Amino acid sequence: MKFFIDTASLAQIKEAQELGILDGVTTNPSLMAKEGITGTDRVMKHYVDICNIVDGDVSAEVISTDYEGMVREGENLAALHPNITVKLPMTRDGIKAIKHFHGKGIKTNCTLVFSAGQALLAAKAGAKYVSPFVGRLDDVSTDGLQLIEQIRGIYDNYQFETQILAASIRHPMHIVQCAEIGADVATCPLSAILALFNHPLTDIGLEKFLADHKKAAKQHAPAK
Ligand code: E4P
Repeated sequence: MKFFIDTASLAQIKEAQELGILDGVTTNPSLMAKEGITGTDRVMKHYVDICNIVDGDVSAEVISTDYEGMVREGENLAALHPNITVKLPMTRDGIKAIKHFHGKGIKTNCTLVFSAGQALLAAKAGAKYVSPFVGRLDDVSTDGLQLIEQIRGIYDNYQFETQILAASIRHPMHIVQCAEIGADVATCPLSAILALFNHPLTDIGLEKFLADHKKAAKQHAPAK
């Protein structure tokens, strides 16, 4: 399973990249706003900055909601860097734009997916990624992971090439369960990735190894 980081923070992207396990980045307008990135020029430069840190797909979301606007915006985004993946919402115009970009060999990510039917449409249109929002479904008492499982089954039935990009990941167990189900990608906040490292027995074990090493080194030190 690929690991993407779900942020527009260059510092967090660099931190994840330095771990050596990062495969890509997803952003959205809320995440860009959180970093204070506004205005077309700054937004475009920010995407290029992200692409220069990570050697993998970087999802850049369109703001337009009509087909013509999405196509115009998406083409400008795709021209920024080969790693840019145009992120489009699951709407009628979004699906039409995904089909258009598929024909032109431009990578897309269909976002805001909350049902298997929507995921089926994204695959039919030729999206490279489909983004079901696990955490936001959990928030409304619906099993987000069950949706990942359902989409996995449908895509496998027909060998759709669209990759399942599990989004709205909130904690490390979401990541582990997505891997068990067979999601192709999980896009996660840095906190959830870092939480995967933690186990008290690892800390206790390392402390004991180092203490034993120190004790033995003292016992067997050559006499002065
Ligand atoms: C997906 O690409 C979105 O950016 C993201 O995962 C949304 O997550 P949230 O529900 O935590 O905002």
